[in-house]
Amino acid sequence: MTALLEIDGLYSGYAGVAMVRDLNLTVHAGEIVALLGPNGAGKTTTLLTTSGLNPVMKGDIRVFGRSVRGRPAHRAPREGLAHVLEDRSLFYQLTVAENLRLAAARSRGDLDRALSYFPALEPLLGRRAGLLSGGEQQMLAMARALTSKPRLLMVDEMSLGLAPVIVERLLPVLRRIVDDTGAGVLLVEQHVHLALEVADRAAVLVHGDLVASGTTAEIAGRAAALESTYFGAGARTDDRTDDRTDDPKAAPDAVPDADAEPDLDADPEGSR
Ligand SMILES: Nc1ncnc2c1ncn2[C@@H]1O[C@H](COP(=O)(O)OP(=O)(O)OP(=O)(O)O)[C@@H](O)[C@H]1O
Ligand SMILES: [Mg+2]
Repeated sequence: MTALLEIDGLYSGYAGVAMVRDLNLTVHAGEIVALLGPNGAGKTTTLLTTSGLNPVMKGDIRVFGRSVRGRPAHRAPREGLAHVLEDRSLFYQLTVAENLRLAAARSRGDLDRALSYFPALEPLLGRRAGLLSGGEQQMLAMARALTSKPRLLMVDEMSLGLAPVIVERLLPVLRRIVDDTGAGVLLVEQHVHLALEVADRAAVLVHGDLVASGTTAEIAGRAAALESTYFGAGARTDDRTDDRTDDPKAAPDAVPDADAEPDLDADPEGSR
């Protein structure tokens, strides 16, 4: 198997403080690797550093065998690395078609092929991205990433603001992409069970430290123990819409509150 991504003893963080410490992680062609962990664990930091949007403090990251050190972030899409950011980063005033065309132009990519994975976007091509539902925005963010025909696709919190039923519909698309193209996927997710359903392997990051990694079967076997030890009240492992805590430093060993009411203000389709 070809290693598309090799994270090797990585330290990365902000203002000289390491938020990810001694991380080792590999993604091969044709596999989906889930990077799991509670709020503030360092998942987004890991992806940003892989894209070159955050510097490597120590260790190395190799994408397609080449170190990301010194590689400008804007080169990543042309080299075959696509990153769907946590905030989706769409041009909300532009239409769906304009968002896609811009991405396709930037990476000299293929618009029709990207759309073929998300046919639900076809009737929405003329609609402003800001008017789409949360699920539609996520589809657009993914379709946009696909225009560059990525060999390695990183998706940060596909489920953010989405009802699990929407996530369940979107996750299999990742598997189709991997099967069709042989790409590798690094999927950051807080819905542990949903991620384990689609991934081949998983790694669990807690407060910057890798506390578990293995096949999804291995991690699933330990999921209950991992969740009660590390995920606390922020874990999204059930059918509730989005009970993510806003506090990135939430106590890692907080006991989940079984009686907690779901947030009735949460829009299952995300913000518009
Ligand atoms: N720009 C920044 N400057 C300083 N600290 C930051 C910055 N971005 C993130 N952090 C801190 O780095 C740590 C890791 O954050 P990161 O965003 O990587 O976590 P995460 O695992 O993606 O969490 P979440 O599930 O909430 O998205 C947190 O303690 C966070 O507060
Ligand atoms: Mg994050």
